[in-house]
Amino acid sequence: MPNPSTTDSMHTLASDQEIVRQYLDRVNPPEQLSEAERRQLESQIRELMQARNARLVAHYYTDSLLQDLADDSGGFVGDSLEMARFGRDCDADILMVAGVRFMGESAKILSPGKKVLMPTLEATCSLDIACPIDRFAAFCDEHPDRTVVVYANTSAAVKARSDWVVTSSIALDVVDHLMERGEKIIWAPDKHLGAYIKKTTGADMLLWDAACIVHEEFKVRGIKDMLKLYPEAAVLAHPESPDAVLEVADMIGSTSQIINAARSLPNRDFIVATDQGIFHKLQQLAPGKQFIIAPTAGNDATCRSCANCPWMGMNSLQALYSSLLDETNEITVDAVIARQAMVPLQRMLDFAVENKLQIHGKA
Ligand code: 13P
Ligand code: SF4
Repeated sequence: MPNPSTTDSMHTLASDQEIVRQYLDRVNPPEQLSEAERRQLESQIRELMQARNARLVAHYYTDSLLQDLADDSGGFVGDSLEMARFGRDCDADILMVAGVRFMGESAKILSPGKKVLMPTLEATCSLDIACPIDRFAAFCDEHPDRTVVVYANTSAAVKARSDWVVTSSIALDVVDHLMERGEKIIWAPDKHLGAYIKKTTGADMLLWDAACIVHEEFKVRGIKDMLKLYPEAAVLAHPESPDAVLEVADMIGSTSQIINAARSLPNRDFIVATDQGIFHKLQQLAPGKQFIIAPTAGNDATCRSCANCPWMGMNSLQALYSSLLDETNEITVDAVIARQAMVPLQRMLDFAVENKLQIHGKA
């Protein structure tokens, strides 16, 4: 098997780093708004949303102002599975998706009749970048006997080449189900999530070799040191984290599953291995508990993300307003690709309903 691994992966990480650096050089961080400016902007966005029957769907990693606006205006904040479901089911004419590009594309594929806008079209994901369709299709063609399961963090074209799309909240259940049916699997693109599923289910999986630049930074040694300071803390980890981090986690799950665990577990302190944007919701929904970011290489120059996804960080209130005002940054997906990608996406949503899926992790 030509492994899409070491060399490509080193190339990928280097190019991810370069893309992030170029982005940070090019784009100024959103201007800090005064309280009055923020209020004015929010009220202008609300008016526009009402006039145009638009709804805001935001990911937990986005700016807290966007999350609050989504919550307060009849929109939605959630993990990537829930965002897709909400976007499909709500009766808006326009969906404003605050997150990264694959989330906008999934919304468009599931709701072809809705206009889908994003605060920026530049917000991508290192997993999506590291899984280009030509290489991926060639890899699949070499293994025609395998069921192709792809993570939601991929392009529409990669989804169109797959049999199943999964998010982190449902991946274990889907692979379990496929294993029971005796199916062998191609998994792409996140190698850490893939390895976790393979280890947990025992499924026969060929793994693509890519990683999330944010989660890959979490360090088990730092977490262990932190546990000495907070011996009663529970470790909550997103499964995009490396195996050594998952080994010390008390709970492994999607962003929503992490929030649910923080609410339901008796611990007061939590060490959290995922993007820091989630702290806003954690603090809202689990008041009185203490959340500590899992250590990254962030105290020195090697930190690329410092637990902040640079692409999620491109979503700002100002960018949202501009995009809605002029109805720019519209997501479009080629009609043939969209029709093909709809099949595995819908399969995932139907599977979730049929199996009434809740938390699935080590909690
Ligand atoms: P969730 O599906 O858990 O929200 O994850 C999306 C993501 O991009 C994590 O990095
Ligand atoms: Fe992609 Fe990682 Fe950012 Fe999630 S946090 S969108 S996986 S780069």
